[in-house]
Amino acid sequence: MATPNSQSARPNLLRYIAMVILALIILVGIAVLITWLVLRPKRLVYSVEDAAIHNFNLTDADHLNSNFYFTIRAYNPNRRVSVYYDSVEVSVRYEDQTLATNAVQPFFQGHKNVTRLHASLSAQTVALFGNVPKDLKLERTSGDIELDVWIKARIRFKVGKWKSKHRTMKIFCSNVLVKFSRSKSFPRTPCHVDL
Ligand SMILES: *[C@@H]1O[C@H](CO)[C@@H](O)[C@H](O)[C@H]1NC(C)=O
Ligand SMILES: *[C@@H]1O[C@H](CO)[C@@H](O)[C@H](O)[C@H]1NC(C)=O
Repeated sequence: MATPNSQSARPNLLRYIAMVILALIILVGIAVLITWLVLRPKRLVYSVEDAAIHNFNLTDADHLNSNFYFTIRAYNPNRRVSVYYDSVEVSVRYEDQTLATNAVQPFFQGHKNVTRLHASLSAQTVALFGNVPKDLKLERTSGDIELDVWIKARIRFKVGKWKSKHRTMKIFCSNVLVKFSRSKSFPRTPCHVDL
């Protein structure tokens, strides 16, 4: 029953479907662009604001006992994105050896918020390897030490009522200069955030 008319209707229909699909792709693209422009996600900003070492004791058998304290400033510069920190783990490292690790209380960070984390880490008879004991003794004599602070956090983003999936954020604060004796001035050390 094919007439010349229905013969030419086929390609028209295909063209129509193709145009609808193309239009949908463009609309989705515009929606993504607008969402991105509105939210304009910015990197979270971290720095170490204060640090202290207490009860530092390096035994003759190259074991370390010591308490480390760090005040870490977490800044969320976003205007519409807030952050759930479901777990936060702070480690202190020296020359690639981890000296102590501890968790920080989970928290929720609203937009444009500054939160200070107080990490208290305790090294208890930690066996030291390689050059670490020798170098630690030298640093002790010099009066200050360069430590690395590593933070691993499981986070979720929140925009309005929408919540993202879990993501792991890694924060590296290298060469944090800590004095063995209490000092008033501490050079704020910026951290590198890896997400
Ligand atoms: C350091 O630790 C050793 C071994 O545990 C102990 O004998 C010594 O008294 C400690 N020194 C200080 C200053 O606490
Ligand atoms: C950031 O959020 C914490 C916890 O909700 C709150 O205690 C603190 O006052 C806030 N700080 C700023 C600067 O908004």
